[in-house]
Amino acid sequence: MKAIQITGTDGFDSLKLNDIPTPEPGHGEVLIRVRATCLNFRDYMNVVGIRGITGPIPRVPCSDGAGEIAALGEGVANWRIGERVVVPFMPQWLDGEMLPSHQGAALGAHVDGMMREYAVVPASCLVHVPDYLTLEEASTLPCAAVTAWHALMVRGQLKAGETLLLLGTGGVSVFALQLAKIAGARVLAITSSEEKAAQLKALGAEQVHNYRQDPAWDDWVLSQTDGVGVDKVVEVGGPDTLNKSLRSVRFGGHVALIGVLTGTSGEIQTVQILRKNIRLDGVYVGSRAMFMDLLKCMSAHEMRPVIDSTFTLSEAVDAFKRIESGQHVGKIVVKC
Ligand SMILES: NC(=O)c1ccc[n+]([C@@H]2O[C@H](COP(=O)([O-])OP(=O)(O)OC[C@H]3O[C@@H](n4cnc5c(N)ncnc54)[C@H](OP(=O)(O)O)[C@@H]3O)[C@@H](O)[C@H]2O)c1
Repeated sequence: MKAIQITGTDGFDSLKLNDIPTPEPGHGEVLIRVRATCLNFRDYMNVVGIRGITGPIPRVPCSDGAGEIAALGEGVANWRIGERVVVPFMPQWLDGEMLPSHQGAALGAHVDGMMREYAVVPASCLVHVPDYLTLEEASTLPCAAVTAWHALMVRGQLKAGETLLLLGTGGVSVFALQLAKIAGARVLAITSSEEKAAQLKALGAEQVHNYRQDPAWDDWVLSQTDGVGVDKVVEVGGPDTLNKSLRSVRFGGHVALIGVLTGTSGEIQTVQILRKNIRLDGVYVGSRAMFMDLLKCMSAHEMRPVIDSTFTLSEAVDAFKRIESGQHVGKIVVKC
């Protein structure tokens, strides 16, 4: 079978399209014919070595993938060949609290990911793809959409009429915008260009601010909320944006700390957190149970992922260059 592999530490030059043996499903496992995978910022970081692949290389990148069941291992009774499925980011995290062992089995970092024609996964983790979604669309959900759901609905308990702040037009933020509109929330968003601002408004954002033209977006947020601040923030930026997000949220508000777009550590005004009774919540993707709840909501509203662009396996480097460019809005898909 064909697979993209990270074969070294030379960034894009280490990304190779190789022929490797097709795996066979063992007891309780299934073989999936992967039809599509998609890129998350984390996959890009793994390829270019910002965070670095853990464990041995070569390593197949990308956590997210959807396809059809091609073969059943022994003892798998509740799935059938040909069924359309999507695989959660952490196949071992089915429900309840996340454990270190769940994170250790996250696809595309510690173990091989989904940028390949076939993959073997535990049958217990599989999620059925609703009929209204294509497999390309379904492949965009395991990381970004589940994270947005976990942040907004599980930790944030977002309610109709609340105001939410979103940063940028990447995968997580666009899913958060779509879910927030379904929930009846008001969305304030910041972005880097007028063109992207128009796209955010078309997706339902009430007010959009260009942070390149005016970096004081925390002032803008306060001006849009009568000086009170927003109820919730989906914080994808990290150290360079967190202090402004803390300033932008109201007393008693909720900040879901998700992203590392500006780095993995930095100087944080901790006193703001306690003085304002802010709930600062670290969020790391989500469980299979959260994925099922997300799909229930999406199906009820026929919510479709926003796909920016689609590539083939042989164009994988171009797909990674697209996410590196920051020009995209929503998800970048690679057909396998
Ligand atoms: N904790 C988790 O479970 C989890 C899950 C998924 C992702 N993440 C993390 O969340 C972050 C976003 O992931 P993603 O996959 O959605 O990324 P992505 O699709 O690559 O989105 C990146 C976008 O964020 C915006 N952006 C970049 N720097 C910014 C800044 N300084 N201020 C405001 N916006 C900025 C840009 O959009 P504009 O041009 O519109 O500004 C950029 O295109 C990443 O750090 C990723 O590692 C974490």
